[in-house]
Amino acid sequence: MIKLNNVCYAYDGLVALRHVNLDISKGDTVVLQGSNGCGKSTLLKLLNGLIFAEEGEYYFDGKLITQDEMKDSKFSKNFHKRIGFVFQNPDVQLFCNNVHDEIAFGPAQMGLTSNEIEKRVSDLLTLLNIDHLKDRAPYHLSGGEKKRVALASVLSINPEVLVLDEPLAGLDKSAQDWLIDFLQELQSAGKTLIISTHDDNLAHLLGDRIVYMNEDHTIDYVL
Ligand SMILES: Nc1ncnc2c1ncn2[C@@H]1O[C@H](COP(=O)(O)OP(=O)(O)O)[C@@H](O)[C@H]1O
Ligand SMILES: [Mg+2]
Repeated sequence: MIKLNNVCYAYDGLVALRHVNLDISKGDTVVLQGSNGCGKSTLLKLLNGLIFAEEGEYYFDGKLITQDEMKDSKFSKNFHKRIGFVFQNPDVQLFCNNVHDEIAFGPAQMGLTSNEIEKRVSDLLTLLNIDHLKDRAPYHLSGGEKKRVALASVLSINPEVLVLDEPLAGLDKSAQDWLIDFLQELQSAGKTLIISTHDDNLAHLLGDRIVYMNEDHTIDYVL
């Protein structure tokens, strides 16, 4: 499903990914661990087509993902429909005036009918236990509420692969416990999950495989 061959990436000469190889099959849960600055977020951005390998190749479902390919709007729309990204900071992700519109945005972009859109929004409001928030402004919600809305907005496009960057960061214990349970449900439903985290509990409960990133921006070993 996902294959990285010898991928390198640097920010203005500052190396963030060094010769990274990774193979992820459909339905896998891969947990990415490693200290701050080792390149986890960079790797996740690259998997989501937000940045591109400077050396090496990224294949998604057998197709080479390049900046040129992603300029083709049909190609990039189809790609973004299949892989969804939950940013570490929900404020980066949420931009609509209310929670309902936030969740409806993706399905509307996909060209679903208004009946289908409303059905998806209502299903996700229920699934994430946020029905009472539907008319609220995302900007004013608590951290845990924002995280649920961000998740709902990504799940509303029903992606096969869900990428989460430090999903537990900034959440209190009960919100963390809820999220771990929720991710286990997604895992049982057959989603492919790629999650960066400092949380060993999450890693051991969910990870089929744990990938360690080193401070020199290489992947050391994969369990
Ligand atoms: N937008 C950016 N511009 C320049 N350097 C960046 C940027 N984002 C990350 N970096 C640098 O790239 C390296 C990897 O960062 P990151 O992928 O965010 O690591 P992690 O998520 O593991 O903490 C760090 O040295 C970081 O300072
Ligand atoms: Mg990070």
